[in-house]
Amino acid sequence: MIVAIDGPAGSGKSTVASALAGRLGFRYLDTGAMYRALTWLARRNGLALDDGGALAELARQHPVSFSAEGKVDIDGEDVSAEIRDAEIDRLVPAVARHPEVREVMRERQRSLGAVGDSVIEGRDIGSVVAPSAEVKVFLVADEGERARRRSADRPGIEVDALTDDLRRRDERDAVNTQPADDAVILDTTELGIDEVVESIARLVEARRG
Ligand code: DC
Repeated sequence: MIVAIDGPAGSGKSTVASALAGRLGFRYLDTGAMYRALTWLARRNGLALDDGGALAELARQHPVSFSAEGKVDIDGEDVSAEIRDAEIDRLVPAVARHPEVREVMRERQRSLGAVGDSVIEGRDIGSVVAPSAEVKVFLVADEGERARRRSADRPGIEVDALTDDLRRRDERDAVNTQPADDAVILDTTELGIDEVVESIARLVEARRG
């Protein structure tokens, strides 16, 4: 079974998707980490971020993999920490916007997701990567709450600066952040992690019959 969890930055996707996968005993696939890892490698190799063809070729040659502990690996390097840098936050939409890059990444995401029961987190999972996913959820939350959540992950950065950054990222990610027509839209603004996980777990149970 595939559970697709999509939504914008700060909507709670990562926390919810990894907790849900743990609870269900499913694999957890973080597709944002894949775009981040490719951005890190492109920077290290000095590639121009506006060259979609070259970036797609880089992605094809160096498929991202995940260890059993969830470490993110590209070109033989564990980049789990580096891909969370503010610099990568800023650059990744420029890489993720190229259709050629998305094509390679989506292919890789489908093959990683096909290994077994998976919770796949991203922006376009229910709509494009796995349109036949058995459960599709699109998480939303109001902007102030999303900025507060990000500030908990990035202590030392002002909430106002994070709010501006979120707006910019929302604009750049908007075209690829689309709920599937049949996704359940879940507003997490006033919900705790456990409540969100619980309601998605109920959808999974209902689907299992
Ligand atoms: O969810 P995140 O912040 O780790 O995502 C990093 C970037 O990758 C962000 O700019 C959105 C983009 N992304 C995407 O375009 N499609 C996905 N399936 C996942 C992430």
